[in-house]
Amino acid sequence: MFRNLMLLAGVAIAVAGCEKSPEYDPAHDYFTYANYDAFVTDHLVLDLDVDFQAQSLKGTASLHMRNLLPTERTVILDTRDLSIASAAVRLEGEAPQAAAFRLGERDEVLGQSLSVDLPEDFDPQGGFWLDIDYRTSPEASALQWLPAELTAGGKHPLVFSQSQAIHARSWVPLQDTPAVRITYEATLRTPPSMLALMSADNNPLTPRTGRYTFNMPQPIPSYLLAIAAGNLFFAPIGAETGVYSEPELLEDSAWEFAETQDMLDLAETQLGPYDWGRYDLLILPPSFPYGGMENPRLSFITPSVIAGDRSLVSLIAHELAHSWSGNLVTNATWRDIWLNEGTTSYLTARLMEDLYSKARADEERVLDWEALQADLQRVPERFQALAPKILPADGEGAQQAMYYAKGQFFLEHLERLFGRAVFDEFIMGYFRHFEWQSITTEQFLDYLDEHLLTANPGVYTREQAGEWLYQPGVPADFVPPVSASLEAAEKAAQAFSAGEIAAFSIDHADWSPHAVVHFINSLPPSLDSEQLGQVGSAFGFSQSRNAEISRAWFIQVAQRRYQPAYGAMEEHLARYGRMKLIVPVYAALVANGEDAALAERLFKANRDSYHPIAVQAIEGAFQRAADKANS
Ligand code: BES
Ligand code: ZN
Repeated sequence: MFRNLMLLAGVAIAVAGCEKSPEYDPAHDYFTYANYDAFVTDHLVLDLDVDFQAQSLKGTASLHMRNLLPTERTVILDTRDLSIASAAVRLEGEAPQAAAFRLGERDEVLGQSLSVDLPEDFDPQGGFWLDIDYRTSPEASALQWLPAELTAGGKHPLVFSQSQAIHARSWVPLQDTPAVRITYEATLRTPPSMLALMSADNNPLTPRTGRYTFNMPQPIPSYLLAIAAGNLFFAPIGAETGVYSEPELLEDSAWEFAETQDMLDLAETQLGPYDWGRYDLLILPPSFPYGGMENPRLSFITPSVIAGDRSLVSLIAHELAHSWSGNLVTNATWRDIWLNEGTTSYLTARLMEDLYSKARADEERVLDWEALQADLQRVPERFQALAPKILPADGEGAQQAMYYAKGQFFLEHLERLFGRAVFDEFIMGYFRHFEWQSITTEQFLDYLDEHLLTANPGVYTREQAGEWLYQPGVPADFVPPVSASLEAAEKAAQAFSAGEIAAFSIDHADWSPHAVVHFINSLPPSLDSEQLGQVGSAFGFSQSRNAEISRAWFIQVAQRRYQPAYGAMEEHLARYGRMKLIVPVYAALVANGEDAALAERLFKANRDSYHPIAVQAIEGAFQRAADKANS
């Protein structure tokens, strides 16, 4: 007992020590309590009841583990708000032996460690099972338990998870680090007639018995564990693709995402074989806190991209591309998240170019470039490196958005320098070389150096690549993207604000939704309220069905306190729970100096319909605004 407490303390000191010392270990995951250098999990068996009354998952998690350091006798796992009933260890085919366990102190970011002592006479041999009986709290940060009223059908409740980055620990006790990869099996029991789905081998034809079994034979990091249950149905798209949703949304979803099979076929030609079996989409209720989540074999998708015109489907290309960048080759720690998101953003643009046109991909590139410029203004320099020294004290990835675009432009820069053919070969080779592994930025850099830079000498140095990875900002020799259609929209915004043309005479009939977004973003601060009203009515912004247009518009409305549109803005905040669509609107309300109380009131009114992760993000935005006001 004493010895184990000492070990726990040792972990705490090591982490605390790194906050001060310059010796940041880029290969170490500071966002887990797990002693994954001493024990590693290779397989997980879940057996859970999905209890809507109690808003709880209850049952057993059995972790198959290997002991790498024989002197180490305590397994440390991650948890958050879990109730642990018992822990036992056993060898395959033998009887379980009860094991002593205790929960550590609760940390706001990391949750609680769960330490399990191997019984004194227990020999872990080449591998052993750790069985944990537990249940989740109704407050589990990964899970949203939606009452029937908040679903499309209104008759059945629904539950879904969001495990990335460090929320898997709120519904399964495990080593919650992307450095460890596991295969898994699961049995889920739901109310009869409900369908349960996981990031595993969902069978579209499965009978609706209320008992579902799953198998995920490919080794995945814990953040890709996913679960959903509700009144869900399936519609096929192509031979290996399809869509799940509540029946009310199924037809619109199948139409909007009808190109998914084409995307998959194209991705295979660009990136190598898709090694996961099926690729399906699950369209969730509007409270899903992200645009999409690349849960393997079953991406989770916000319904806010159902614009009715397929204009927002790059999100599907993005989640699909993660099947390679992220799910096949995974960031070893959250400090390396650019390896997942930057590479995926690069691949998304490539897919969009081939599926649609370079013009369409360039529109998206320019929007991303502008968002990056804004982020570089806002994000402190020490976080601007693609591979920053990030610790739990910095919050759970508060700066994440900028690593998408900066990572994408890093790879586009390399592609331009070496030529597309050479770079394509490099990327394919990269996926094959590191497949099913979790890697650090330094492993990427070594591979890049050997297979691209040194293999094609005289073009770009390791030091130059290191500038993107370890320095703030964007290197000066990068050539930013341009888009003729977005430039035209920008010109129109300028001409309108200068009083040169009337709002109703702006000919936007063939503008893409991206051009419209850019038009809104380009309205200068000098624009007065009356002018804002004129474009608002001429374009019908407050009534837009396109969530990206609504987002851009209501940010302006909140920034400029354009009160005639406040009613529509309130509806927007009530309609969506996707953070990207609502957090900046709340933040703009608080920042305009007059509407902090309104923002609080609207948040209170909507809070129960938001996912716990979104609630946390909005509270964080309010807190930052308050800190700023007080400083
Ligand atoms: N994996 C991310 C979502 C994520 C990132 C969750 C970090 C938690 C921590 C997902 O693939 C993603 O990037 N979603 C974007 C899609 C967009 C860039 C096309 C989103 O949600 O908006
Ligand atoms: Zn992503």
